[in-house]
Amino acid sequence: MTDTVSAEQERREADLVERVARSFDDCTDPRLKQLMTSLVHHLHAFVREVRLTEGEWAKGIEFLTAAGHITDDKRQEFILLSDVLGLSMQTIGINNEAYGDATEATVFGPFFVENSPEISLGDSISGVASGEPCWVEGTLSDSDGQPVAGARIEVWEADAEGLYDVQHDDGRTAARGHLFSDAEGRYSFWGVTPTPYPIPYDGPVGKMLAAVGRSPMRASHLHFMVSAAGQRTLVTHIFVSGDELLDSDTVFGVKESLVKKFERQAPGSPTPDGRAVDGSWSRVSFDIVLAPAGT
Ligand SMILES: [Fe+2]
Repeated sequence: MTDTVSAEQERREADLVERVARSFDDCTDPRLKQLMTSLVHHLHAFVREVRLTEGEWAKGIEFLTAAGHITDDKRQEFILLSDVLGLSMQTIGINNEAYGDATEATVFGPFFVENSPEISLGDSISGVASGEPCWVEGTLSDSDGQPVAGARIEVWEADAEGLYDVQHDDGRTAARGHLFSDAEGRYSFWGVTPTPYPIPYDGPVGKMLAAVGRSPMRASHLHFMVSAAGQRTLVTHIFVSGDELLDSDTVFGVKESLVKKFERQAPGSPTPDGRAVDGSWSRVSFDIVLAPAGT
């Protein structure tokens, strides 16, 4: 493992790894056995490669303990940790293999909330969220190009302050909702123009980013989760073309195919549904192609 240790030291270390790995020999679930055995091999390889000190081991335990303490039903520090290490993106990539021209998936993030309000096509998800109004429209189709009707489309985003509703302490629900595609697979809604925001950096993950000189900023984006019978559920975002953070997104979520042009409309420009809007607004089009379930 390392050329700085004696043959006897090397033998002792390798022997321990094998004894721990063999402790899973009687596990009757083959997948669980594979996961645990492989995890032990990789963890020990890491510790041996870097010659982890006992002080560093204790710091690691302290870090994970702090991540646990700050986590509750609205704050998920372990997902943040997975995100900033690129583990979330890697897992998503492995589980959403490229399929024809199916829309690419990206990170789920920690701010999805179950039971979002249902809105009708063309309605607004914004509620009290601050921000420039943004008209979002597109189509849903399957990999044969057929429209997907009745798909459930969950959308959620941060407000102009860079905060999701659950990060405000007034219990609000805003800038999130769900809608269903129509018979031709079309969808549309009003939201707010996405703006950049930092991931929560007041916890252990934020301290780690600061210690290594990394920014906590995410590129501006709007989250989607699309589910329909017979189709692979798609979790993705769209990003804003021209955003200077596209190359340094702290969770590695940006994909070229998901960068969209948000076209700014001057104050007074007629809106697609005739709605009166104060000031400027923007519009974006996002056509979604779903892969078949099981691919
Ligand atoms: Fe987000």
